[in-house]
Amino acid sequence: MSTTATSVASDVKSFELADLGKKRIDWANQSMKVLQIIRKEFIKNQPLKGIRISACLHVTAETANLMITLRDGGAEAALCASNPLSTQDDVAACLVRDYGIPVFAIEGEDNDTYYKHIMQALDHKPHVTMDDGADLVSIALTKRTDVVDGIIAGTEETTTGVIRLRAMAKEGVLKYPIVAVNDADTKHLFDNRYGTGQSTIDGIVRATNFLLAGSKFVVAGYGWCGRGLASRARGLGAEVIITEIDPTKALEAVMDGYRVMAMEEAAKLGDVFCTVTGNKNVLRKEHYEVMKDGAIISNSGHFNVEIDIPALEAMSSSKRTTRNFVEEYSLKDGRKINLLGEGRLINLAAAEGHPASVMDMSFADQALSVEYLVKNHASLKKDVFKVPDELDKRVAKLKLESMGIKIDRLTPEQEEYLAGWSEGT
Ligand SMILES: NC(=O)c1ccc[n+]([C@@H]2O[C@H](COP(=O)([O-])OP(=O)(O)OC[C@H]3O[C@@H](n4cnc5c(N)ncnc54)[C@H](O)[C@@H]3O)[C@@H](O)[C@H]2O)c1
Repeated sequence: MSTTATSVASDVKSFELADLGKKRIDWANQSMKVLQIIRKEFIKNQPLKGIRISACLHVTAETANLMITLRDGGAEAALCASNPLSTQDDVAACLVRDYGIPVFAIEGEDNDTYYKHIMQALDHKPHVTMDDGADLVSIALTKRTDVVDGIIAGTEETTTGVIRLRAMAKEGVLKYPIVAVNDADTKHLFDNRYGTGQSTIDGIVRATNFLLAGSKFVVAGYGWCGRGLASRARGLGAEVIITEIDPTKALEAVMDGYRVMAMEEAAKLGDVFCTVTGNKNVLRKEHYEVMKDGAIISNSGHFNVEIDIPALEAMSSSKRTTRNFVEEYSLKDGRKINLLGEGRLINLAAAEGHPASVMDMSFADQALSVEYLVKNHASLKKDVFKVPDELDKRVAKLKLESMGIKIDRLTPEQEEYLAGWSEGT
């Protein structure tokens, strides 16, 4: 553990960075108007009084505002990273020094430290877990069973985590109810689509300074993230190619005007590749074998398994770092392939993750879901649940209000018309 100027348990890079972190947190807060409203309510009503929360999230300025909101609602919250490369060290330092929130996260930490930090967050003996990718829950259920009895409920932020948790529930190993924040409309329709779309392009461009106009940009996976990424790459003038395994999604991509083909073919054409599937080995040996010299490969899916890096290593005679976040692999046949950000989510590795305005909604869903779970956990089974519709709609309504946008209301006549069946026949 670092020597700290405070008595708060923590492991962060340096408290000298804390002033910078404060500015970054304040800047993000300006764009998180819905969370500000919830924070005011939390300060008044103290719905989380006495609740210990262990959160495993990307340690960014937006997450800091969520942690402060939970703390202001009466919770004792501790935070560790959900990815070794996504921590903003200045933000981590500020959360400890200025807000007294325990943080265990250092940008670039190795695998052992990553898991040690998850353990330290669990030492907090949480009543509620808050996960992004389900690593915290997995460790609690396998290696820290001592804390499980005290946990009343949890939330999950991302698609991959929800898939893992549903698998746990199906196998009967999940020990408490979880709300799948990812599945709220006000989360995946905006965060996964517009947040990942914009910030993934941001990460690729910051890492490479590559001109997308006129390039061939291959997006693997046309789910929520893939749709957003494809539309933003097209907006910058790239010719976008989609690969999919789901016929309906592939058809949607065709009718959205993209070229759709198997990766086998796309691999020969692409200048830039980005995987966003939540699946493993989507880019692999047979694809590297036919890629153009100088191809750029990246991932924005949750885990760094979408690109088969060991296969790339095995095919290469050497590698070197050519820029921050760019590793150039020299293949034995003389071609070069550039891997970005060690195959980890490139929007968080090379850029700053999603803009605050979109995390405003995701984290409003998180805060309201925790409040809901604290009130209702006793009546919920050990399963994965949706964010209640009324919370989801409330977040949308508050976001529109914060943007100064008014929408129509149903007239009594329209309500009656929609509720009945006799008219219009
Ligand atoms: N980078 C970020 O900040 C960020 C944000 C949100 C979600 N995510 C992660 O991104 C991933 C995708 O999330 P999503 O919400 O778009 O999920 P999704 O389920 O909506 O979409 C995934 C798509 O990938 C397709 N797919 C699966 N295997 C494939 C393969 N081998 N080749 C081509 N397509 C394949 C699926 O058919 C599906 O359409 C998840 O791992 C999620 O956790 C990352």
